[in-house]
Amino acid sequence: MTAPRRRLGVIFGGRSTEHEVSVVSARGVMREADPERFEVVPVGITRGGAWLTPDETRARLDRVEAGERRDLGDEPGGGIFAYPRVMETLRDVDVVFPIVHGTFGEDGTLQGLLEMADLPYVGPGVAASAVGMDKALMRAVFAAHDIPQARYLVLRDEEARAPGAETFRAIERAIGYPCFVKPANGGSSVGVGKARSREDAGTAIAAAAQYDRKVLVEEALTGQEVECAVLGNFAPEPSPLGEIRPSTEFYDYQAKYLDDSAALIVPAEVDAATAERVRALAVRAFQALDCAGLSRVDFFVEPDGGVKCIEVNTLPGFTPISMYPRLWQEAGVSYRDLITRLVDLAFERFEEVRSHA
Ligand SMILES: Nc1ncnc2c1ncn2[C@@H]1O[C@H](COP(=O)(O)OP(=O)(O)O)[C@@H](O)[C@H]1O
Ligand SMILES: [Mg+2]
Repeated sequence: MTAPRRRLGVIFGGRSTEHEVSVVSARGVMREADPERFEVVPVGITRGGAWLTPDETRARLDRVEAGERRDLGDEPGGGIFAYPRVMETLRDVDVVFPIVHGTFGEDGTLQGLLEMADLPYVGPGVAASAVGMDKALMRAVFAAHDIPQARYLVLRDEEARAPGAETFRAIERAIGYPCFVKPANGGSSVGVGKARSREDAGTAIAAAAQYDRKVLVEEALTGQEVECAVLGNFAPEPSPLGEIRPSTEFYDYQAKYLDDSAALIVPAEVDAATAERVRALAVRAFQALDCAGLSRVDFFVEPDGGVKCIEVNTLPGFTPISMYPRLWQEAGVSYRDLITRLVDLAFERFEEVRSHA
């Protein structure tokens, strides 16, 4: 018996710093989705937030294929209600793979739209996506679930915009230098900095505060940065681990997207017992946030063997060479089969949620 062929909407691009990665991920999914199972319906969003019909999207992608540009264009958006033709198209799809990273996509907003549209979609739901995008909320959820993490402080509003001596004293008491400073609502390491002194911290906080009204100051972890790809709904499975070896001071925006300088090592070079602990923690973090479908959970394995969770990425990079698909390849799941599994999980979760409605 063969499963029915489904219309798979792929929504990608969007108003985030990760627009170009999203385009590469979406092209991978469009090319590799099993043609016997799926008819892909591409829906792009420009950098400015304009929604494109499938034909418009394909025309933009032709220019990307031709090497003329790397994005879907930048016309400003008029808000979702300005695109009735696109919404009409989405009405006819069976399931959606939302591949919009960062704000207006990975943060629960697109997931909310798909809930309102009564459509199954790949990946975590509204709450998990929103918490995964807000590092202050994520840290609180980790704490409530005893998931080990770096010591941290959250600075808000005025305190983040203009930290005074009292704030620096609190940072020095709770964390000390060096410390990491990052916007709560970030991604791609944008606005993330390392500070070695009070002066440095002032500069780093000012930089992070440009991106968000909440800024995190964290203990600087050392050791190996390792990642685990989690797949599933109610009994999520952890993949083998991968390791990031940045050639820069940390895994910054430059290393992630511009110069490709960081080495991705699969499997990670950690002993079997440590790997098992990390994998178990990855599943716990996935469940703590109430994720579904997929998430990549990132960690530090410290020199003394301690493990600390850095973050959960609810919509990890999904290009054919990204860490998430690579880790499943290591476990014997091809990129094509991974897409099929994710779509099946989207239907499974949709039915489950429905059964409680
Ligand atoms: N507390 C920390 N200690 C050491 N390195 C860190 C810490 N927090 C972040 N980093 C480094 O900065 C990178 C980006 O930080 P992360 O919290 O993952 O933000 P993003 O959501 O932008 O990926 C990490 O991949 C890691 O290399
Ligand atoms: Mg990260």
